[in-house]
Amino acid sequence: METRVDMQWIEACKIEDAIENGGVCLKLQDEQVALFYFTRRNEWYATQNECPHKHQMILSRGMLGSLGETPKVACPFHKKTFALDTGECLSGDECAIKTYPVKVENGRVYIAMTY
Ligand code: FES
Repeated sequence: METRVDMQWIEACKIEDAIENGGVCLKLQDEQVALFYFTRRNEWYATQNECPHKHQMILSRGMLGSLGETPKVACPFHKKTFALDTGECLSGDECAIKTYPVKVENGRVYIAMTY
């Protein structure tokens, strides 16, 4: 059986609305999305805002860092960490997070939502 997933780029914000080396929370298509502007690596990432550990809507307030070459965010509550590129939980747990493609064009940031 073939599963078809449609993707739509949605304008999230202007570059200047993002926080350098930090995250902002956006509501896109009824989902809370955490958008991260990782200026130290000159990279953008978007993930679900909900931390799967205790279901807190908090990841946009997490601390950014790197584990080797892997960009990561640490949840501010219990410090579980997640890879920003794949969503994998790096704290040894089976609780990955959803990630979204991000692109920047003409000073505006777009996030690809699937439905
Ligand atoms: S709620 Fe995020 S690590 Fe516990």
